[in-house]
Amino acid sequence: MAIESFPESRLPDPVAAPRPTGPRLVPRPVEGAAFGSDWWQRGVIYQVYPRSFADSTGDGVGDLRGVIDRLDHLNDGTDRSLGVDAIWLSPIYPSPGLDVGYDVSDHATIDPLFGTLDDFDRLIDEAHRRGIRVVLDLVMNHTSSAHPWFLESRAARSGPKADWYIWRDPPRSWSRAQRRRRPNNWVSYFGGPAWTWDETRGQFYLHTFLPEQPDLNWRNPEVRAAMLTMVRGWLDRGVDGFRLDVFNAFFKHPELLSNPRRVIGGRRAYDRQRHHYDKDQPELHEFLAEFRALVDEREGRMTVGELFATEAHRAGEYSAPRHLVFDFHLISQPWRADAFARATAEREAIFGPAGWPTVVLSNHDQSRHASRLSARSRDDAVAKAAAVLLLTLRGTPFLYYGEEIGLRDVPIPRAEIVDPPARRGGPIARRLSPWWNRDQARAPMPWTDAPFGGFSEVRPWLRMAPDAATRNVARQAADPRSVLAAYRRLIWLRRCHPALQVGAWRRLSKASGDVLAYLRSTDDETVLVAVNFGRGPGWFRAEGDPASGGWEPLFGTHEALAPAPEGARVELRPLEAVVLAAGPSSRG
Ligand code: GLC
Repeated sequence: MAIESFPESRLPDPVAAPRPTGPRLVPRPVEGAAFGSDWWQRGVIYQVYPRSFADSTGDGVGDLRGVIDRLDHLNDGTDRSLGVDAIWLSPIYPSPGLDVGYDVSDHATIDPLFGTLDDFDRLIDEAHRRGIRVVLDLVMNHTSSAHPWFLESRAARSGPKADWYIWRDPPRSWSRAQRRRRPNNWVSYFGGPAWTWDETRGQFYLHTFLPEQPDLNWRNPEVRAAMLTMVRGWLDRGVDGFRLDVFNAFFKHPELLSNPRRVIGGRRAYDRQRHHYDKDQPELHEFLAEFRALVDEREGRMTVGELFATEAHRAGEYSAPRHLVFDFHLISQPWRADAFARATAEREAIFGPAGWPTVVLSNHDQSRHASRLSARSRDDAVAKAAAVLLLTLRGTPFLYYGEEIGLRDVPIPRAEIVDPPARRGGPIARRLSPWWNRDQARAPMPWTDAPFGGFSEVRPWLRMAPDAATRNVARQAADPRSVLAAYRRLIWLRRCHPALQVGAWRRLSKASGDVLAYLRSTDDETVLVAVNFGRGPGWFRAEGDPASGGWEPLFGTHEALAPAPEGARVELRPLEAVVLAAGPSSRG
């Protein structure tokens, strides 16, 4: 499109606030846009993978003090930081580390690898002082097999914890020779059967994931009570919310019926079954009500559930005000306008105008989207255009650490793979399963061009990105064209524009095939977003607010934009994304 001025001038003046030193500083760019107890809806949440964020102790592994040291990057109260409203910490509990922390051996304290409870309290204080909420990952479907509860449970068939896990005898016709007959046909998400024989107890136990991650028996009221006590303890410590790991798998069918097979089987055993009886049981609703009531007793708390391997419509059924549910619609889309348009329309239908979705493009279980969506491209155009989608589609955006600098998957040689499900899987599983190398998306954060990216003074637990010397936070902070600059600006814009936070979503139909154009609107303002997914030119019709005096650019990935009259056809360059606001007369 015709180029005149960079949208810089359209933005509100940056807050000239000093860096926070004293009492906390609430970012307040425009009156009325400060986040209150509805931050879970208006805000932006950032996933910290603590092992890979920042190492303060020089052991090559990230830790809580490292996170504290880097909080100013996340939000220092000015637009010179990212400006996120909350962090979600992947598990920081004691763990043998067989599922890299998702195998918890004590839910009530901190793994010494990451620090102490005092460090945690300091993290909460320092985060809160900056207006950053802290969300903990709760892994409650299973524990580590090293958890004292499991050790006690496996010791004998009687005793207080005997029924805390899911133990079953083999079918009745069992004899020593038939030991391998399992209670049913359920399979583990990490490959192989979901049942492991335990010699001590002389029974099988259930594990949806690794054999070292036995599933808890959620039908036992004592298990539920113990979990709620633990949750209360963290709330008392000041945490602002929880991410619930695989929450829809907590309850299994009471009779543990075998799962039906799929008519058309998938490549992995897990995909060849219809997972009817090992998740999504009606009793989950009862527990969610109890758990959510506990969380809701405290002002301004929230939760987000990881919807695990199930139909997308359940995300709508399980979610409620303050209690979000990840649906992974967008994460599984190819980089095409029609795919994102369809997925967004489906999500809108699932949640309805009153429901509230999340927007997620990357996390610790998936290939990073800068790699996944742009295998062919070495530059950052796709990462920036994807940032526009992430931060302007309807729903609470969840960023995954490193995506704000366009971090890509880091190739890990087979001999260096850490992730146990990948190491165990063998070559066939590696070829067939997306879980084969989650390490690639968990690389240490490159902060500077120092050795080991300023992440640590020693060789980190996982390989650094090969381009860490050039792709790092310090370098991008100094470059107004960087991915980081785009994220900062877009998050700032969200803060300034209620339409981008809570506005209704409507697709604009007049656009070329590779362009997805949509409006976000409240009663008071309308914002238009257009993203060209194509590697050739595209266009859209800037319309949807006839009362407007035209469309004023707020942001563009390609720097130079001009205002457009209502109804104008606007040309976009390859992979260009723009955000425009309806001019003043529409607000009349
Ligand atoms: C969730 C976590 C994943 C973990 C699994 C088992 O899917 O995101 O990292 O391996 O649960 O806890």
